[in-house]
Amino acid sequence: MKNATKFWAIVPAAGVGKRMQADRPKQYLPLTGKTVLEQTLNRLLQADVFSAIAVAISKEDPYWPELECSIHEKVITASGGKERADSVLSALKSLRKQASDDDWVLVHDAARPCITSTDIHFLIKSLNNDDIGGILALSSHDTLKNVDGIKITETIDRSIIWRALTPQMFRYGMLKHALEAAEGNPAVTDEASALEMQGLQPKIVEGRPDNIKITRPEDLALAQFYMEQQK
Ligand code: CTP
Ligand code: MG
Repeated sequence: MKNATKFWAIVPAAGVGKRMQADRPKQYLPLTGKTVLEQTLNRLLQADVFSAIAVAISKEDPYWPELECSIHEKVITASGGKERADSVLSALKSLRKQASDDDWVLVHDAARPCITSTDIHFLIKSLNNDDIGGILALSSHDTLKNVDGIKITETIDRSIIWRALTPQMFRYGMLKHALEAAEGNPAVTDEASALEMQGLQPKIVEGRPDNIKITRPEDLALAQFYMEQQK
C-alpha cells in the first residue's frame, strides 16, 4: 500500500541580511522576546502538519547552535548555499532519505515570522489535490507604473500583478528536479520561478497581508505590531 502523502517544511535561513544593516543576520535579531528565526520555526511547528522542518544554515553561522530549536526533534539542519535557491536545494537534499517524490514541501523564508497557521492550512487546503502546487500571494493596492529612469512609460493593469510570498508549496520530486535544472540561474528568486522555467504554471492562493518579510530596519517594528495583533 502506498504511504500517505507527507508534508515537509524547508526554511532558507542562510542569508546575510545586507539590506537590514544590522550587526548580525536579520534572522537572529530579537523580536518579541525571541529571535526572528525562532518565531518563524515556532509558527511552523504550531501549524502541526510537518513531519520535519529542514533549516538551511550558513557554515559560518555561530548563532544557530545557541538556539534551543536547533536540537528540536522535528528540526533538521542543512547547509546553506550561495543564493537562496542553493540553500533550498541543499535543504531538500537533506530530506532525500525520508521524503517521497509525491510528498508536499512548503518552503518558507526565515525572515517571515508573522506567518499564521490559518495561512498555512489555507494554502494546503487550496492545493492538496493540485498537480503542480503554488504559492501564497498578495494583490497590489497601489497603482503600478512602468518607468524608464524616473519617467513613467505606462500604467500596468493591477489585476494581473501579484506579489509572491511564502510558503510556496510543491511536490518534493518536481521541486528538486526544477531547482537542479535551474542551478546557477540568477532569475530563480523563488521556487515558483524554477517550476515556471519547466513550462509549468503554479497557482496563486491569496494570503494575509500581515505575512511580511523582514527586509529593512523599519520592518522589525511592523512585525512586532502584527504579532501582537495576532494574539
Ligand atoms: N537565504 C538563504 N540563503 C541565501 C540567501 C538567502 O537561505 N544564500 C534566505 C534568507 O536567510 C531569508 C530568505 O532566504 O530567510 C529570503 O531572502 P532575503 O530576504 O533576501 O534575505 P537576505 O538575503 O539575508 O537579505 P539581503 O538580500 O538584504 O542580503
Ligand atoms: Mg537576499
